[in-house]
Amino acid sequence: MRVLICDPLAENALARLREGGVEVTVKTGMSPEELAHELAQGYEAIVVRSATKVRKPALDAAVGLKLIVRAGVGLDNVDADHARAKGIEVVNTPRASSDSVAELALAHMFALARSLPQATQSIRDGKWEKKAFVGIELQGRTLGVVGIGRIGQALARRALALGMKVIASDKFVIQSPLPEVPLIPLPDLLAQSDFVSLHVPADPAGPVIGAAEIARMKDGAYLINCARGEVVDEGALLAALRSGKLAGAGLDVFAVEPPTNLELVRHPKVTLTPHIGAQTREAQERIGGEVVEILLQRARAG
Ligand code: MLT
Repeated sequence: MRVLICDPLAENALARLREGGVEVTVKTGMSPEELAHELAQGYEAIVVRSATKVRKPALDAAVGLKLIVRAGVGLDNVDADHARAKGIEVVNTPRASSDSVAELALAHMFALARSLPQATQSIRDGKWEKKAFVGIELQGRTLGVVGIGRIGQALARRALALGMKVIASDKFVIQSPLPEVPLIPLPDLLAQSDFVSLHVPADPAGPVIGAAEIARMKDGAYLINCARGEVVDEGALLAALRSGKLAGAGLDVFAVEPPTNLELVRHPKVTLTPHIGAQTREAQERIGGEVVEILLQRARAG
């Protein structure tokens, strides 16, 4: 089996594939044209993370391609419908990074609640401003989880353990997977939550959180987005931060990455990470492990 690895994959995963008899070619950082040219060379499978965009022209150029493995969760960088229409299977590794993403969402909540970036900078500037950094506890606050899939549940469990009240909203789920977490309509969740954390894919119909949704949120609430940048209307978010409607936002993802909305990313009430929800050693090892299992199974099946 010939496999093209288009984005970095854990070294031990590459070694296990080679040991399993898979012919592995690693070519990262390809342009769309280079990818199309490479796929014309005849690979049965390719592995991508989020950087490589597998669009129609590359799929149309592919010779003998049977499988696309997305090492991660979101399939927004793969034209999956077009691939499937051509008989190419598309799979992802949905379980591997849930705990890491949930922990990052929680990290943003703590960082916002206790002004960690500002306090760090203040001490580096030679100051000792104890009175400037009066924060809030998470304990006793209400967390609204939008999207109660694997990541939403992982965050909800952690928040419950911290003594938070957790509510959830999910337009695809009828019964809550966690008995302690009531499922309620999104407008009610927005009105009741001190923190709102988003764990839904991008919706082609538009942002899940725009000006109308922010207007429903509590004054002084916090918004966390470790899902996809398109889920939030960044203009509406910036306006809400400027007006003081929202006390802060924790952002791991952006409409354009790296972000071009500099007013938003420079706003002092925002904590920022560069789309690193899945970037832990543990998640990357699990992702690598799942990719190896998928490919070795296919190689064995012939
Ligand atoms: C994912 O969809 O797996 C995460 O957002 C991580 C990533 O895309 O790098």
